Amino acid sequence: YVLGVDLGTSAVKILLVNEHGDVVNEVSKDYPVIQKRSGYSEQEPDVWVEKTVDGLSEVVRSFQGNPEDIEGISFSGQMHGLVLLDNDLYPLRNAILWNDTRTSKECEQIYNVVGEDQLLKLTKNPALEGFTLPKILWVKNNEPNLFANAKTFVLPKDYVRLKLTGKLHMEHSDAAGTLLFDIANKEWSNEMCDLFGLRDQFCPPLVKSHEVVGSLLPDIADEIGLTSNTKIIAGGADNACGAIGSGVLEEGKTLASIGTSGVILSYESSHEKDFKGLVHYFNHGVENAYYTMGVTLAAGDSLSWFKDVFAPDEDYDDLLEGIDDVPPGANGLLFTPYLVGERTPHVDANIRASFVGMDRSHKRDDFVRAVLEGITFSLNESVEIFRKQGKKIETVISIGGGAKNDAWLQLQADVFNAKVVKLKNEQGPGMGAAMLAAYGCNWFDSLRACGEEFLRVDKEFNPNISNVRKYKELFEIYQDIYQNTKELQH
Ligand code: XUL
Repeated sequence: YVLGVDLGTSAVKILLVNEHGDVVNEVSKDYPVIQKRSGYSEQEPDVWVEKTVDGLSEVVRSFQGNPEDIEGISFSGQMHGLVLLDNDLYPLRNAILWNDTRTSKECEQIYNVVGEDQLLKLTKNPALEGFTLPKILWVKNNEPNLFANAKTFVLPKDYVRLKLTGKLHMEHSDAAGTLLFDIANKEWSNEMCDLFGLRDQFCPPLVKSHEVVGSLLPDIADEIGLTSNTKIIAGGADNACGAIGSGVLEEGKTLASIGTSGVILSYESSHEKDFKGLVHYFNHGVENAYYTMGVTLAAGDSLSWFKDVFAPDEDYDDLLEGIDDVPPGANGLLFTPYLVGERTPHVDANIRASFVGMDRSHKRDDFVRAVLEGITFSLNESVEIFRKQGKKIETVISIGGGAKNDAWLQLQADVFNAKVVKLKNEQGPGMGAAMLAAYGCNWFDSLRACGEEFLRVDKEFNPNISNVRKYKELFEIYQDIYQNTKELQH
């Protein structure tokens, strides 16, 4: 058995998986996002650790088999979040998360110092508010006394692994989202560190995603009910793990992943393509491979916002029950999901969401359908970028919240104009983490071989031609909303 830990934005999800990829036990522990003001998004790193240890302990203690047979644990984690550590490797402040957009000035600062072309050359990525370097600079600029005590930094899941093992590491797929990493050579970019005055050793030691990096500290092992024989494997960024866990392990495969954020992700066998910074370009959890992706900041988050505000006592199944009875286009209601600004394609931290076309006759189900359509339109912006760059997108594997409802899966097929595939043991990035653990424990010769054993197709959704036509028209109107509302928001 192996354990896959997915440290998400709303919860940590833990899967216990057997040698065939079957999930034999799982648990999820929620934690809050701290939003002190608009644009801010933080979490307490030690809450992640506490909830992860609680969850691991629950999964292991309720396991019917022998805990000695749990060979490895690996991690998937929300990307980019800054965890600044002092000399003793304790956090100096709350983590600043990937969907925190307070850093527009720092992005400008980065362009002023490096220049856009040079930044793309060094890191393959543009300066976006969500990435880690702008957050480091924000703390340096706004909390200089605190920053003076910063010895190093890690990303969210690396912090949890550090507290479980006592070992400080960062792995390639998450390092790729910091803007301090040379993704082609898989090492810290000395040039970027020098340009921003980051001391030697500020960036932690690097490892590969499937590398065994240590074992559990004795008191933590006791608490969980395991021993130091269980191997700890580095793990990957949640999007890299989502790609692994859905079999996006070769060129030509595309993923739609809807968690708090939403991404359209495409496998790349090299770092040499040029997408001009329109999509992110990161290292995969597969050695020597890459992926490109566009990101919607509030995808599942738009639906959970809607549920929190308008249907707090219902579960998602109840909330989505009526959407199939509402025709495509939600009876004239459109939604843009810019609740916390938007990344792809607008790169705009200030834009905010809207409902357009509200009518006296609209019912709640129209609103729910409009929210799902708005999220899917936003993801379609990324699909369109890929297609314009010459990529063929005929099949999309859908994971996460977006894969839990058949009507939403059909909606994705109709909006993307592509076949949408749902997997049998769909578990999002947690499955990718479990696969990294399995591969790290030498169960398989490659992640692809692991995928062949673990992953099976459940259902396919083919685009319905008349819906495709309708959504093409609506998508153009949807795109106009950004242009027409951006002036109102600034
Ligand atoms: C990717 C990104 C999000 C987070 C969500 O660039 O910011 O998808 O990884 O956890």
